[in-house]
Amino acid sequence: MTTTLQEFRVLGDHRGQLVALEVNRQIPFEIKRVYYIFDTKEGVERGFHAHVNLKQIAIAVKGSCTFVLDDGKKREEIKLDNPNKGLFIEGLIWREMKDFSSDCVLVVLASEHYDESDYIRDYSKFLETVK
Ligand code: TYD
Repeated sequence: MTTTLQEFRVLGDHRGQLVALEVNRQIPFEIKRVYYIFDTKEGVERGFHAHVNLKQIAIAVKGSCTFVLDDGKKREEIKLDNPNKGLFIEGLIWREMKDFSSDCVLVVLASEHYDESDYIRDYSKFLETVK
């Protein structure tokens, strides 16, 4: 299991900023799905699941939010607060998302189509699976 916070190169000039992401360069998997979470209500926490096979990169392209990542032994918090940051998550990691700013747009690039059978939504089952 791996989680990595990457910093993408920003191609900026006097007009503004641009980030380009390419498969097999910044994105270490074929992208099969893109989804985004926005208009998250104040105080809401989301996620509360792990994936068996999925690889994902999460980017707060606007605003900010915090990921809580749990590998079954320790928990860490990673704040996404800049469109140049990408959080790569692979393998059995329990994830929760919180502290969404009201303007947050969280884009997620995923290696597989949506598949409910890839989810572990029960924390005790996650702990059983990960050990
Ligand atoms: P949910 O898993 O609750 O979101 P999160 O855990 O990231 O906060 O997903 C909300 C709903 O959207 C749920 O009915 C499943 C559906 N969904 C899809 O249909 N496709 C997707 O790619 C995702 C991520 C969710």
